[in-house]
Amino acid sequence: MKYTSPLILLSLVLIVVSSSPLWASASEQKYQHFLQCLLEHSLDNYPISKVVYSPINSSYSSVLDFSIRNLRFSKPQTPKPLLIITPSHVSHIQAAVICSKSHGLQIRTRSGGHDFEGLSYVAYLPFIIVDLINLRSVTIDVENSTAWVQSGATLGELYYRIGEKSRTLAFPAGVCPTVGVGGHFSGGGYGFMLRKFGLAADNVIDAYLVDANGKVHDRESMGEDLFWAIRGGGGGSFGIVVAWKVKLVPVPATVTSCSTHRNLEGDAIKLVHQWQYVANKLDENLFLGILLTGGNITTTQEGIADPTATFFILFLGKVDELVATLSTTFPELSLMKQDCVETSWIESTLIAATGVQIVESLEPLLNRTPPTIESTKIKSDYIKEPIPEATIEGIFQRLKAQDIATSQLIFVPYGGRMSQISESETPFSHRAANLYKIGYIVGWKEQSLNAKKRHISWIREVYEYMTPFVSKSPRSAYANYRDLDIGANNKYRKTSVKQASVWGLKYFGNNFKRLVYVKTKVDPYDFFRHEQSIPAL
Ligand code: FDA
Repeated sequence: MKYTSPLILLSLVLIVVSSSPLWASASEQKYQHFLQCLLEHSLDNYPISKVVYSPINSSYSSVLDFSIRNLRFSKPQTPKPLLIITPSHVSHIQAAVICSKSHGLQIRTRSGGHDFEGLSYVAYLPFIIVDLINLRSVTIDVENSTAWVQSGATLGELYYRIGEKSRTLAFPAGVCPTVGVGGHFSGGGYGFMLRKFGLAADNVIDAYLVDANGKVHDRESMGEDLFWAIRGGGGGSFGIVVAWKVKLVPVPATVTSCSTHRNLEGDAIKLVHQWQYVANKLDENLFLGILLTGGNITTTQEGIADPTATFFILFLGKVDELVATLSTTFPELSLMKQDCVETSWIESTLIAATGVQIVESLEPLLNRTPPTIESTKIKSDYIKEPIPEATIEGIFQRLKAQDIATSQLIFVPYGGRMSQISESETPFSHRAANLYKIGYIVGWKEQSLNAKKRHISWIREVYEYMTPFVSKSPRSAYANYRDLDIGANNKYRKTSVKQASVWGLKYFGNNFKRLVYVKTKVDPYDFFRHEQSIPAL
């Protein structure tokens, strides 16, 4: 990304004040005071003017767009920030918080920009973005098996730096390397090692955070309540997490990645059904998930929709042991050695992310831009009882819809370590009671309103169809699969605890109450807020 230094910003920016509707309510004088405030609160050695972008700056749009990962929120009519600040020092974050608070502006914090509802870069009140893209250092301590990672780093950057130092240390976080550490850890963060080591948030041991008063805290000074809340209570509610100290986990020098596909002609429905009885009980070194893919990308040359079920595996061990294990625990899968590849763990992260079989270079892990960026919508469910075969058939029927570009359901098995961690250990409450999680994802490139309506209707209908078969009272959901459909929210006003409890209980179960308590203690005026942030009492 091109970072033109916007030194002239502070003098030029007044010109845009009158042309931006969001500034309409703010006087020129107020705005000048805001900029003055930023200057006053930044240190001479770290001038903030170098990292402030206003709409008049030629880099403003490229800085804004660079981390937008959902084209639904990249339209001319999408509200834009008054300023973007890309801190290169913690004092810039402190200044942004202090001055936004005193000037009645909202802050949207962005790390990797993958929020499925765009909440890290879109708001309907006057707002600025604090974009942590420049704060992305990763320091690995092999001797103590720990790392400090700044929030603006991506998972790929974290994995790459671990791989540089060791082939037998790893970190249990998400699959997509472009996801940002900041949002991901804040909402839990799962990957292919969750059955062995739990979530990313379960492996956080310290953090630096800037609170609503602009003060910097570590674990000790923030206290255990707040430290608990930031490990899964969702991003954007409690402060801006600058960096996380994590526990690295031991992995064997050789791990095995496999995938095998089935379609409706074959035994896809039967296998998916059987999988429900097996996957959460397997050895915790073995992750066996399913990706169902449909939509017109699966249409054959003959014009027939052909949704597929891909069974994908990460085994923390060698292929012979894996094949032998599955031949007794899940013989119906008929997994063969040829479906698998043995590599180091770091190479397996690229195989999982890209599907390549031979990893020639680890450099792609450092790429912050995903191969495709499109409009997307996501939903999630937790499953406590196996769903009937006829229901799986119903899912496949829906995946056949050819007026949908891409539709996917990802089945993530629980059990293992996920069942050993209590529901209240962190805000992420979805533990022992669950067999697996479903993520529903729909994606499209066409920019028309019709295309948007069609795709969103599709995912809502599938979600509705699944109602009888998923968790109930509440129907649980994963906070990192942000979904504004699942409860009242208000774009323009603060949300009450009662309104928020609709989605709060779905995301956090009984932990919602403690999250509200912590929020009330650390941010009683609800400075850090968005449509689904934790409200204060
Ligand atoms: P982004 O910057 O958009 O932030 C998300 C939220 O956290 C926003 O509310 C934001 O304000 C807040 N926030 C960001 N940085 C913060 C900080 N430093 N301090 C406080 N709040 C902060 N999940 C998963 O568990 N496993 C997976 O494998 C994947 N895979 C995946 C692939 C793709 C393509 C997408 C789009 C998403 C996923 N996810 C996922 C979901 C992902 O974990 C979730 O969207 C994260 O919140 C994204 O974090 P980012 O920092 O990228 O988002």
